[in-house]
Amino acid sequence: KKQVKVGLLGLGTVGTGVARILEMHQDDLLKQTSVEIKIAKVLVSDLQKKRSIELDADLFTLSAADIIEDPEIDIVIELIGGIEPTKQYILDALDRGKHVITANKDLMALHGTEILAKAAEKGCDVYYEASVAGGIPILRALVDGFSSDRIHKMIGIVNGTTNYILTKMSQEGAQYEDVLKEAQELGYAEADPTADVEGFDAARKMAILSNLGFKVDFDLNHVDVRGMSNVTAEDIAYGKKLGYVIKLLGIAQRDEGCIEVSVQPTMIHRKHPLASVNGVFNAVYVYGAAVGETMFYGPGAGELPTATAVTSDLVTVVKNMKLGISGKSVVAPYRETILKTPEQ
Ligand code: NDP
Ligand code: HSE
Repeated sequence: KKQVKVGLLGLGTVGTGVARILEMHQDDLLKQTSVEIKIAKVLVSDLQKKRSIELDADLFTLSAADIIEDPEIDIVIELIGGIEPTKQYILDALDRGKHVITANKDLMALHGTEILAKAAEKGCDVYYEASVAGGIPILRALVDGFSSDRIHKMIGIVNGTTNYILTKMSQEGAQYEDVLKEAQELGYAEADPTADVEGFDAARKMAILSNLGFKVDFDLNHVDVRGMSNVTAEDIAYGKKLGYVIKLLGIAQRDEGCIEVSVQPTMIHRKHPLASVNGVFNAVYVYGAAVGETMFYGPGAGELPTATAVTSDLVTVVKNMKLGISGKSVVAPYRETILKTPEQ
């Protein structure tokens, strides 16, 4: 094939970034794949909306079927978010033999097992690097980089919106509501920012990290979640006096078959490397039995950083198609379930 056609479901913050990167970096992408990657159709919810990127008007559609049922489209990129209708769109696309890329942590944390099983059955690729920690290629690191190690602990600042809020409250004395609004305007926050500030978004990401890092089928409902919406300016000032900063931390650890995953606002000593992860930046500490301690750092949300992860997944899918190994390098759902969780 000289050309691969892509259907974009969603042209919001991340979808726009993907379209931009395909445009900006097309020569580099062509060098790596020898294939022209072309956006063939774009699903949106409002055809009249003014867009910050110019695409041919005839690419736009209000009907997902125009993409999912188009035999010429090889790859579907889901960037709408939420569980429905996206789950059905993805399952329908896989049923028709299309490869899928998504940034949707809500969906992958809750229904990843079903989606990956369907992909394996159909010989299709499913990649979801952008679902955790935006521009940091942490899923690839866990799956490939640490394939020979046994990870026993991961600690992460995995939500950009709340880290942005906590940083501005701490460094500039900004008001919670004002900074949340700013994070929404910058495109960092979820459609419903409750998921960010109450820790659910971080919980979903920690569940995905636990699945891939510990190689188990971890149930999202076992994450113990506390958000940061109750953290006050006084809490932050008090911590500062003692030499600490407050961060929303996700902690996942495994100990003899027992896996514990939690998300909570935590005081960190100002000299700890996680204390200097500021603004929309994320970081994930990974502790492996053999490798020891490693830390991954980078932008956790936003248009181009997140779109980098999506578009790199796209390059992988295209390379797999060329090599005839589609569906073979995908991490199938891990069947081992947890023997013991703290609640049991
Ligand atoms: P946006 O809200 O900016 O964009 C959503 C897009 O989906 C819009 O183009 C919208 O159409 C379209 N859409 C929404 N509902 C429907 C529907 N029912 N039918 C058809 N189209 C629909 O979201 P983001 O780009 O911020 O996020 C997309 C995904 O990426 C989410 O899963 C999010 O969690 C994830 N993500 C986001 C990050 C970020 O920094 N923003 C970072 C990492 C992951 P229209 O444009 O017409 O309104
Ligand atoms: N709302 C999410 C965040 C987007 O702020 O981290 C990136 O997943």
